[in-house]
Amino acid sequence: MCPPEHFTVEYAINPWMDTTVPVDPALALKQWHLLRDTLSDLGHAVHVLDPAPGLPDMVYAANGAFSVDGKVYGARFRHPQRAAEADAHRLFYAGGSWTYADPLHINEGEGDFAYLPGAYGGLILAGYGFRTDPAAHAEAQEVLGRPVVSLRLVDPAFYHLDTALAALDDRHITYYPEAFSPASQRVLAQLFPDAVIADRADAEAFALNLVSDGHHVVLNTEAMAMGEKVRAAGYTPVHVELSELKRGGGSVKCVVAELRP
Ligand code: ARG
Repeated sequence: MCPPEHFTVEYAINPWMDTTVPVDPALALKQWHLLRDTLSDLGHAVHVLDPAPGLPDMVYAANGAFSVDGKVYGARFRHPQRAAEADAHRLFYAGGSWTYADPLHINEGEGDFAYLPGAYGGLILAGYGFRTDPAAHAEAQEVLGRPVVSLRLVDPAFYHLDTALAALDDRHITYYPEAFSPASQRVLAQLFPDAVIADRADAEAFALNLVSDGHHVVLNTEAMAMGEKVRAAGYTPVHVELSELKRGGGSVKCVVAELRP
């Protein structure tokens, strides 16, 4: 995670960003700390990246890389405003026992990649259509040695895979079907017949932008309806107020890069 010390909305690269409304940096920071404490209280180790001035979106740490089995597929951002973030993530992994691969193709890390270790022996789901180049899906498969299923996103409001789909545990997902092309919807229905299906209101509340450890599902306070859906599916919802970070077009998942050593 990376604290939103330099968080602003000074450019608009997704439909949620409005540069005419000032953000409340103190509130963003307070909400971020509550999320970090929530994850720690649930027993998770949280590593913190130093925020850099001039990189207001660095708080969305999920976009900086994608790790599976100790291997890291680095990010290459679509927009020049975020390009320098990739180096900060690379340096973090260089300090550990990770194998890091620099990407040739544009991809925004966990924003567009999800991993299901228990599905089909270990399956990567990958989104394209707005940010990540489909060529990055094949590159990720070569780097990570796991099958990658490409899914086409079609609604600009749900521009990253993690705004439209989430892993609930090692083999179950939840998603909003209409965020995907009809063919990709058929692929998801075939692979995950028991998925928890979200509706448009859930997706607009950033309910799919969740982090789950397989038991506790951490999602924002706007996503109450989704909280009940995951509870009915056997998980425990944990709601965290993250309203200020929605102004940049992200919520819980966007600000957490999961480490898979
Ligand atoms: N403002 C950021 C952008 O548009 C938000 C990124 C949200 N991150 C995510 N994983 N969906 O790039």
